[in-house]
Amino acid sequence: MCGIVGYVGSESVLPILLDGLSRLEYRGYDSAGVAFIENGQVDVQKKKGRILNLREKLADSGLLARQDIHIGIGHTRWATHGAPSDENSHPHLSASGRIAVVHNGIIENYLELKRFLQERGFEFASETDTEVIAHLLEYHYEEDAGQDILEAVRRTLSDLEGSYALGVLCADDPEQFIAARQDSPLVLGLGEGCNFIASDIPAILSHTRKIIIMEDREVARLTKEAIELFDAFGQPVKREPLLVTWDSEAAEKGGYEHFMMKEMHEEPRAVRDTVLPRIRDNRIRFENFQMDRQALENLDRIRIVACGTAAHAGIVGKYVIEALCRIPVEVDVASEFRYRNPIITERTLTIIISQSGETLDTLAAMREAKRLGSQILAIVNVVGSSIAREADHVIYTAAGPEIAVASTKAYNTQLAALYLLAFQMAHTLGRIDDAELKDYLEKMTNLPSLLETTLAHQDDLQRFAAAHFNAHSIFFIGRGLDYALSMEASLKLKEISYIHSEAYAGGELKHGTIALIEEGTLVVCPMTQPQLVEKMISNIREVKARGAVILGILTPDCMRAAEVCDQVIELPQIDPLLAPVVAVTPTQLFAYYMTVNKGFDVDKPRNLAKSVTVE
Ligand code: F6R
Repeated sequence: MCGIVGYVGSESVLPILLDGLSRLEYRGYDSAGVAFIENGQVDVQKKKGRILNLREKLADSGLLARQDIHIGIGHTRWATHGAPSDENSHPHLSASGRIAVVHNGIIENYLELKRFLQERGFEFASETDTEVIAHLLEYHYEEDAGQDILEAVRRTLSDLEGSYALGVLCADDPEQFIAARQDSPLVLGLGEGCNFIASDIPAILSHTRKIIIMEDREVARLTKEAIELFDAFGQPVKREPLLVTWDSEAAEKGGYEHFMMKEMHEEPRAVRDTVLPRIRDNRIRFENFQMDRQALENLDRIRIVACGTAAHAGIVGKYVIEALCRIPVEVDVASEFRYRNPIITERTLTIIISQSGETLDTLAAMREAKRLGSQILAIVNVVGSSIAREADHVIYTAAGPEIAVASTKAYNTQLAALYLLAFQMAHTLGRIDDAELKDYLEKMTNLPSLLETTLAHQDDLQRFAAAHFNAHSIFFIGRGLDYALSMEASLKLKEISYIHSEAYAGGELKHGTIALIEEGTLVVCPMTQPQLVEKMISNIREVKARGAVILGILTPDCMRAAEVCDQVIELPQIDPLLAPVVAVTPTQLFAYYMTVNKGFDVDKPRNLAKSVTVE
């Protein structure tokens, strides 16, 4: 995700900002920029691409060597609203050029705020949600905050819906800058005669180990002598700093041992950022995709094309879209799709799913579908990636950069996007009414808190994995959506733990594969579909009779299957249709702990690359 660094002190600010931003490079970014005050003016320098490009720009202009610039804010951007470009990079300036802002997070009501500002004559230079903040700050600064930047920040925050970590610099206050946060991390660093902000501790760890973690809705004013912290009501807050003792490699992982664990813990945030900005007035609004009833009725089929984890998300999508919309959906792995002369017409909608947006097989399949006349809707995580650029329509997931090779949070967000799409299409087709849509949307909004509850089961899975990591072969079985989920669970286990694993439909095992079940074979059974539990209990009895050990991952509605399980992980209560978004998490944790116990590199499994750009 994006990174923020800010500094006020007596040293030359630009090398400090560049150094801090470089330490956040591991998070992924596509542009970088800085704002600083010199001679009573705010200067912004920003550049698409690597931090090196920005460094060269600052060096060439002589700014980098200047010793008289002592206050500034910097940012690395991971594009969410608008493609990676110089214009969309942060910092963003207010209309007068006197206020600069850097922002992490997503402003959900930015279109509404943009309209408000445009009606008052503000002009926008970028496609970002952040520019709205810069103009709103100026609006309040001039209109009702008495040209007090702290007050202008407070008033602006009360207009914003969504998540933010902010750094704000004002030309009229060359000795101070302001920071604020809501649902996006921001820390304050206390130095000797200087102070810092950062979105992640590693950015400032070489300067200070005294850190104050900001909490939601808090605002801070930083000068070189002091940091003042205020709560949402403007009351001063006293908080003792922590003394960070980790090294910077550990700090990059946010205190987690591996990126995979960190990313699983980001699932609630990632799903929230994918879902909430699309829900307005009990309706789903995608920025870039809308089909009317006639267009939907005209579809002969939907094809979902993707690879690996993304293809598994597509299989869940098939179950859900078919169930709700009654449109036939076929799922293809991209490498097969291209070469089998698929049936595509102008009435086909092809949905391409990709985290990276660069997977070569998926890209080539998309081009083939396009050539055959299909409309292309891409569900992609990386803004401005090849797939995003070439598709007709894009729905972005908001997972943020995924660094671990094994995909985790991207899968949850791909599912979230597919659910929203299915609900929107079903509603447009008149297959669900307003009340049903509202009910589904409430349930979607609740997913992040269900994910938090699920992540709390970590210890049970850790203990179970410690007892079973020597398994030679593990089966996952499920029915309906639990079968779709099992495919992803099995891939996650085998790709990082190197344990042979297969996923089967519960009823299919007895047609051959049951021959492989022997005394002690581990069989993992997600059960989230109450209407299929009795059938699953029979299937479990079949494998238990041959000696299988059963790990059940059960929702409360399916708890009657506990009697045939050797160990149960209980999921929170969830609508069975939405269950895969949450039920996948214990299977990811299971794969993680099995791998840790075996002593393998969780984040970089052998033979695999994060982005597969070869055929
Ligand atoms: C597995 C995994 C891969 C990817 C696949 C597609 O954990 O990450 O199976 O899902 O290579 O990648 P994207 O989604 O980037 O197209």
